[in-house]
Amino acid sequence: MANVLLIGNGAREHVMAEAIIRSKHNPQLFSYMKSNNPAIASLSSSVKIGDYSDLDDINQFATDNKIDFAVIGPEDPLNNGVVDSLQKAGIPSVGPTQRLARLETSKSFTRNLLHKYAIPGNPRYKVFSSMDGVEEFINALDEVVVKPDGLTGGKGVMVQGDHFQTKTEALEHCRKILEEHSCVIVDEKLEGEEFSLQCISDGKTVVATPPVQDHKRRFVDDKGPNTGGMGSYSSEDHSLPFMTAEDVTEGLSITQQVADAIYKETGEYYKGVMYGGFIITKDGVKLLEYNARFGDPEAMNTLPLLKTDFVDICKTIIDGTLNTLTVEFEKKATVCKYIVPKGYGLPKDHPDAKSTSEKIEVENVKDAKLYYASVDKRDDGLYMTTSRAIGVVGIADNLEKAEQIAEKAISAVKGPVDHRPDIGTKPLVQRRIDHMKKIRG
Ligand code: GLY
Repeated sequence: MANVLLIGNGAREHVMAEAIIRSKHNPQLFSYMKSNNPAIASLSSSVKIGDYSDLDDINQFATDNKIDFAVIGPEDPLNNGVVDSLQKAGIPSVGPTQRLARLETSKSFTRNLLHKYAIPGNPRYKVFSSMDGVEEFINALDEVVVKPDGLTGGKGVMVQGDHFQTKTEALEHCRKILEEHSCVIVDEKLEGEEFSLQCISDGKTVVATPPVQDHKRRFVDDKGPNTGGMGSYSSEDHSLPFMTAEDVTEGLSITQQVADAIYKETGEYYKGVMYGGFIITKDGVKLLEYNARFGDPEAMNTLPLLKTDFVDICKTIIDGTLNTLTVEFEKKATVCKYIVPKGYGLPKDHPDAKSTSEKIEVENVKDAKLYYASVDKRDDGLYMTTSRAIGVVGIADNLEKAEQIAEKAISAVKGPVDHRPDIGTKPLVQRRIDHMKKIRG
């Protein structure tokens, strides 16, 4: 038996909690959340609501409950150094130390690491701490992406042709970023199809989970503002319909080289999740960014398919013996669609914006899995709390069936809600395939 501390309160942590509880080791789950997720609470022996920056409170909760190891869900506690702090109290974690979490928290660290160790995958890029040379570099590229060097909750990346149009605007964005951040990173804009490859690592061995495609735009046909992710899908063959086997191998190979480089650079083994956001271009697989955690929604596509005991995976990550474990996933397709309040992602003065915190009813859902995100369970029922509410996951032998299962379950959720009906459907997937064919020439 093991006492496991899970930090985090979203749908990603709900599916992680489920994976922990499923273990044959019969673990006890202890959850530290910044707001109460009723589904995680129902799986936990004990819950503490607190702040992810209150490292003393987290340590106290962990020591009081004789925690054997911790699993960290979101990036904020990693950025705050929760792994280092627990380590000082003798509690190991699945999650990198603050220094290694720079893989996600510092875009310049990661770009420069790939460059220094000659790891393929970087686009043309430069890091600037002042405006000196910015204009010259931007003018040397066709189109650019500019981003600050730090955590911005997914809202910091500005893409030409999307968030702005001209190079003059790009320069202006760089100037503004430098007013608030120490560095700005300018990347060449890449054209292609994106995939998420969530890898688990003990610092020496890196194992890929099935690739997933996320959908960040709020509305059907990839229209509207970027969100935390409206849904995602994965295929039964553990590839994606627009990918080749070499693309998956390339993403894994880059990640293995990055894990090796991190050790050479810091003398520390990276223990946790290395989630690469990759894009397949005409010149092969390129790295957009790494996250130091599972993806949300992508964790809901991968963890329910896990055949290997999740607690065994955690233990081998901590012990540095991941090479001794065969990590297997069911050969099933998955489609995850987020149910969101109608007002999610809309400007505050929009008529639908008021429907962000209203009551929802979940009727009998049989075939799909539901993972709670931002919901509040009150005496009179379940309420949404402004952000993504419930991740609905269909799992089946193929994408078509998985998508149908997810859609049927969504129709059982009543209230002022919205979702993207196009995610995982044939026409959308076909568009990705056609796009990639065009790119590959
Ligand atoms: N799927 C986007 C993220 O987890 O950051």
